[in-house]
Amino acid sequence: MALQAIEFTQFSARVFQLFDRQWMLLTGGDFARGEFNTMTISWGSLGIVWGRPFVQVLVRPTRHTHQFMERFDTFTVTAFPEQYRGALNLLGVKSGRDGDKIAQAGLTPMVSTKIAAPAFAEAELVLECRKLYRDPLEAQAFLDPKIEANYPQKDYHTVYFGEIVAIRGEAKYRTG
Ligand SMILES: Cc1cc2nc3c(=O)[nH]c(=O)nc-3n(C[C@H](O)[C@H](O)[C@H](O)COP(=O)(O)O)c2cc1C
Repeated sequence: MALQAIEFTQFSARVFQLFDRQWMLLTGGDFARGEFNTMTISWGSLGIVWGRPFVQVLVRPTRHTHQFMERFDTFTVTAFPEQYRGALNLLGVKSGRDGDKIAQAGLTPMVSTKIAAPAFAEAELVLECRKLYRDPLEAQAFLDPKIEANYPQKDYHTVYFGEIVAIRGEAKYRTG
């Protein structure tokens, strides 16, 4: 799919829809070295921090993707047309620990424009990100006791802020 470069000031998305309904893939690692892994995400946010555009993602330490997020400096967040719902489902229930789930899902990893972590040929939106901040969530900081119910295994997410260094997307992601 031919994607166009989009300045962050011209980027337009229905962010809640994108995360909560459409879902996305979070991919950490290095394409050239052949070391990367991906998983489906539906929690996160997009905004500005320290004067830079950023995406925030949350990854449980139990995910195989977690070790790639820890070891490598960059990651991508990618969105797909509805026809790839099945692929995103598969990538959100199977682990890269147990085999080549990306090939099984029928997706094609490809080089990004500015970072080492891969994008996907089938994506309609690619956010290329460089890690700015990481921190494990602290259970004692939860202000609503109901939040703890998300963690029966106490596998509290690690939060990552990634500076968005490039955006590529279909025309619908560009405004102005
Ligand atoms: C719709 C959906 C959303 C998900 N969102 C997240 C998320 O935001 N953070 C997370 O740690 N896991 C999330 N998961 C779970 C991972 O995608 C899942 O555990 C995946 O199999 C991990 O793969 P890996 O072991 O190869 O990293 C989600 C799963 C689905 C199906």
